[in-house]
Amino acid sequence: MRNYFIAGNWKMHKTRAEAAALAQALVAQLKDGKHKYLVAPSFTALETVGKIVAGTNIMLGAQNMAAEEQGAHTGEVSVLQLKDLGVQAVILGHSERRHLYKEDDALINKKVRLALKHGLEVILCVGELLEEREAGKAEAVCETQTVKGLEGVTAEELKRVTIAYEPVWAIGTGKTATPEDADAIHAFIRKVIGKLYGEAASKSICIQYGGSVKPENAAQLMAKPNIDGALVGGAALKAETFVPIAKFA
Ligand code: PGA
Repeated sequence: MRNYFIAGNWKMHKTRAEAAALAQALVAQLKDGKHKYLVAPSFTALETVGKIVAGTNIMLGAQNMAAEEQGAHTGEVSVLQLKDLGVQAVILGHSERRHLYKEDDALINKKVRLALKHGLEVILCVGELLEEREAGKAEAVCETQTVKGLEGVTAEELKRVTIAYEPVWAIGTGKTATPEDADAIHAFIRKVIGKLYGEAASKSICIQYGGSVKPENAAQLMAKPNIDGALVGGAALKAETFVPIAKFA
């Protein structure tokens, strides 16, 4: 069976106490889980959650990272600081970073390369806006974001990269891409990876789907040949909804 990767992005939610309670519930309920798991709490809860998931089958992820190693960057958090907290992976290029905070492909690429240089795993998010989909540009947008996001990344480093396809119109809206639509874009992204890194890489790259993944639709999405996991937002905030996704049957 494929090695699925299910990640929870907690976004700007949860105090340390709330984050600890969720992390403890997930550790208990996922200890017999068969897939790869990650939770990405806010920076403020990384240390708390990191202590709870350390040594378990749940990885600690961050939701963002500065593009510079250290220095005069007020309000930013560096890769060195994340590693100091035990962070193993970082989500980069999330649509909220791209669209609300105007991060462009060049900045995201800088972060991707820095994270990989420091040994972290990267979840690189790509995805089109509704108007881009309606204009028939979904593939072109995903190709550009994938190619530019991975510029300068070696084949060896790519082994630590997961791509998350997150159509922006499906994030937090309750609208999921149909499994068929999602799978078509996943297949396309796999082709893009093939062009850049060759066939073996295109087969082995993990491509998560994100955008209103819930217990009710997880299994149908994961059944698709090119969908290797999920990046979950809203439904990751409660064990009752994240665990059934993480243990989809
Ligand atoms: P959602 O968010 O599951 O709430 O749609 C997904 C994401 O933004 O990663």
